[in-house]
This record gives sequence, C-alpha cells and structure tokens, in this order.
Amino acid sequence: MSEKRPTIIITGASRGIGAATALMAADKGYGVCVNYRTGSSAAEQVVAQIIAAGGRAIAVGADVAKEKDVAGMFDQASDKLGPVGALVNNAGILETQSSFSEIGVERFRRILETNVIGAFICAREAVRRMSRSNGGIGGSIINVSSIAARTGAPHEYIDYAASKGALDSMTAGLARELAPEGIRVNLVRPGFIYTEMHSAGGEPGRVDRLVGSIPLRRGGTPDDVARAILWLISDKAAYAVGVSLDVTGGV
Ligand SMILES: NC(=O)c1ccc[n+]([C@@H]2O[C@H](COP(=O)([O-])OP(=O)(O)OC[C@H]3O[C@@H](n4cnc5c(N)ncnc54)[C@H](OP(=O)(O)O)[C@@H]3O)[C@@H](O)[C@H]2O)c1
Repeated sequence: MSEKRPTIIITGASRGIGAATALMAADKGYGVCVNYRTGSSAAEQVVAQIIAAGGRAIAVGADVAKEKDVAGMFDQASDKLGPVGALVNNAGILETQSSFSEIGVERFRRILETNVIGAFICAREAVRRMSRSNGGIGGSIINVSSIAARTGAPHEYIDYAASKGALDSMTAGLARELAPEGIRVNLVRPGFIYTEMHSAGGEPGRVDRLVGSIPLRRGGTPDDVARAILWLISDKAAYAVGVSLDVTGGV
C-alpha cells in the first residue's frame, strides 16, 4: 500500500472498468468511494477486497442522474474518507444493438440521463467542493468516454455514441474553465473492453468478434483502462489538461 492520498469517487464501480479502477486506486493509497446504482452486493465485495488488502473504501448507492443522490454521495465520501480530490465519471449504460431508425425517444432519454446528465451532475458537485476558490483542495476529474464517440457506433447504438460525444465536448470546456481552480479535467476513451456491458447490448461475445479489427489483436481489460485513468489523475500527469487518451489497442 502506498502513501495516503485524498478521496476518490468512482461512479459505477460495482463491476467492470469502475471496479478495476477502484481496486487500483485503493492500492495507490486513495480512499475510495465505490458508487453503484443497483449492484450493492457487488459493490460491497469490491470494498471488502480493498479493506482486506489494507485499503480504505466505502460503498455508496446513488443514481448519478439524481442531484440529491449525488450530493449525499459526496457528503458520505468526505465525511467517512476525507476531502474529495478526484472524481471518475465512469457510470454508463447502453441498450440493445439496433439500427438508428428503431431507437425510441424514451430510450435515447434514458441513455442521455445517465451518461450525460449524470456526468454533468457529478462533475458540478465535484467542482463546487474541489475548487480552490471555494476552499477545496483542487484535484482531478476523469470522464470515461468511448471510442464510439469517434466511430458513432453505426448499426449498434448511435444514441450511446452521441452521449459519449457530449462528454468529449464537456471535457474540453471544463478543462479550460477549471485549470485555474486547481482542477485538471481529462478524458479516457476505452475501445473494446471485456466487461458485462456488452451483454446489455445483446452480444456478450462482442469483443471477441471484433478482435481481428484491433491492431494489437486482443480485447482490452478493465485494468488496461484503469491504469490510464490513474495515470491521468496522478502527479505524473501534472501538466496534462483537456487530454483525450484513447485506450483502444490502436483502433
Ligand atoms: N466495456 C467497454 O468496451 C467500454 C468501451 C468504451 C467505453 N466504456 C465506458 O466505460 C464505462 C464503464 O463501462 P463498463 O464496461 O465497465 O460497464 P459495466 O460493466 O456495465 O458497469 C457499469 C457500471 O455503471 C453503473 N451504473 C449504471 N448506471 C448508473 C447510474 N445511473 N448511477 C450509478 N451507477 C450506474 C453500474 O452499476 P449498477 O450495476 O449498480 O447499476 C455498473 O457499476 C462506461 O461509461 C462505458 O460507457 C466501456
């Protein structure tokens, strides 16, 4: 276990990329707020693993798209773990692969609600608490976008791709507005990563199907993405502001 670092809030950390980031962050000495929406037992398992390894963590249920939930999550994180110095906007959803003309408006709204409004609410809460002019300790925000923001995900989920494009724009603005406040904002774009998310799209084996199109000839692991996120948060990336880091194996 490394030196003690500030509190990090990782949304959607009950599994997949968020869980991998939580475990790695705890190992580096951060106090970790493991957020989830419905998967309380999975989140508690991540916390148990961190504590067993000598780390500090709590699990907090909160829907990122609900302002009250998010404010309560930040309160719990700072009360139990100390001042918040990092946020990873990782929670994200997609729905069944579909042609564009079959995507309903209600579905599009659900996707935007979690992926865009949720990231916006969490970032705003973090900024209010972390900004130096508000007495905060400064820090880092990472938005987890997707290679879909570049490709548009035709025939699969253009709604999801558009939501990730919004994160790209939000990162560009936040990065410039918040750097003077001591908050570095950056973005990671994962490619095809082995997680349960692809089951929600109706194709659990999607990454294996696409391996041939990846120059590195392998799908990504949650740890591949977690390493990039934690590097951008760390002092090793102290001069990186508004960076979009593709973690795609070359796609
Ligand atoms: N896997 C990939 O290939 C890939 C590629 C590019 C980008 N990404 C992005 O990487 C991020 C993580 O993806 P993943 O593959 O690890 O997904 P995942 O395995 O499906 O996990 C998603 C996480 O988000 C949480 N979540 C969903 N809606 C939420 C909400 N409204 N409030 C709070 N938590 C919520 C889930 O918690 P509950 O289960 O408790 O709801 C879960 O912990 C997402 O933003 C995704 O878009 C993934």
